[in-house]
Amino acid sequence: MSETKVALISGGNKGLGLETGRQLGKMGYTILLGSRDPLKGEAAAGPLREEGTDVRVVRLDVTRQTDIEAAVVMIEKEFGKLDVLVNNAGVMIEKGWTKNTTSETTLENLRTTFDANLFAVFALTKAVLPLLKKSDAGRVVNVSSILGSVSLQATKGSPTYGTKLFAYNASKAALNVLTISLAHELQGTKIKVNSAHPGWVKTDLGGSAAPMAVSDGAKTEVELATLGEDGPNGGFFHNGKSIPW
Ligand SMILES: NC(=O)c1ccc[n+]([C@@H]2O[C@H](COP(=O)([O-])OP(=O)(O)OC[C@H]3O[C@@H](n4cnc5c(N)ncnc54)[C@H](OP(=O)(O)O)[C@@H]3O)[C@@H](O)[C@H]2O)c1
Repeated sequence: MSETKVALISGGNKGLGLETGRQLGKMGYTILLGSRDPLKGEAAAGPLREEGTDVRVVRLDVTRQTDIEAAVVMIEKEFGKLDVLVNNAGVMIEKGWTKNTTSETTLENLRTTFDANLFAVFALTKAVLPLLKKSDAGRVVNVSSILGSVSLQATKGSPTYGTKLFAYNASKAALNVLTISLAHELQGTKIKVNSAHPGWVKTDLGGSAAPMAVSDGAKTEVELATLGEDGPNGGFFHNGKSIPW
């Protein structure tokens, strides 16, 4: 079994996933950089290698069960365990932060969003759970969003009240229920499962108007990936502070 800590990050070829890999790599973790396009993954991995990180690119379209199964076989063979899973890959198909187009949402968009943001997260987490159980301190980080906070969505005057991206928000709310449910099942074990809100971050998904740099946005993912034994299980956090469900 590998002596060093091993972290698998989905959607690791750019944005918050890549930056999370960079920061965990600097902390000594071996990084398994998930990328649905291995060429993009290799291009992204180059600078991390130059910084001294042991990084391997894993072909991982999270919506493809065959990719998930191949990743599990590789991790089992090469490392015998997994210490960290960052479920970072995600999509936001809707456009427009302030226009409510709920009734115009197509079933296709709803399904595509849930495929990537919920069903794939469930499938990948379920598949690697036996490997996480072999870790001394397994950590699962579900990269959610404050837009998935149902209580804030329902509260007039809250910071996210006016942003009704129905498919995206619903998928992240459902992802939060996965966090709560799996954390409950695993309480008393060495594994901790938490949801992260990175902040509104300048990435392809967040857009150029976002106020936060990607280096700051990745901090919540990194913090939850490296929680100590006394850290929380089954919470929803941004920069060390709880967010209402
Ligand atoms: N940026 C923000 O303000 C913000 C705020 C709250 C939450 N988040 C969450 O943070 C996470 C990362 O987003 P980001 O801002 O870094 O966006 P990004 O730059 O657009 O990156 C998204 C990543 O997800 C990957 N991805 C999408 N579908 C995938 C699939 N089926 N299989 C594998 N990878 C897939 C993309 O791969 P490709 O390059 O191949 O498309 C890309 O690597 C997402 O879950 C997002 O919802 C972001």
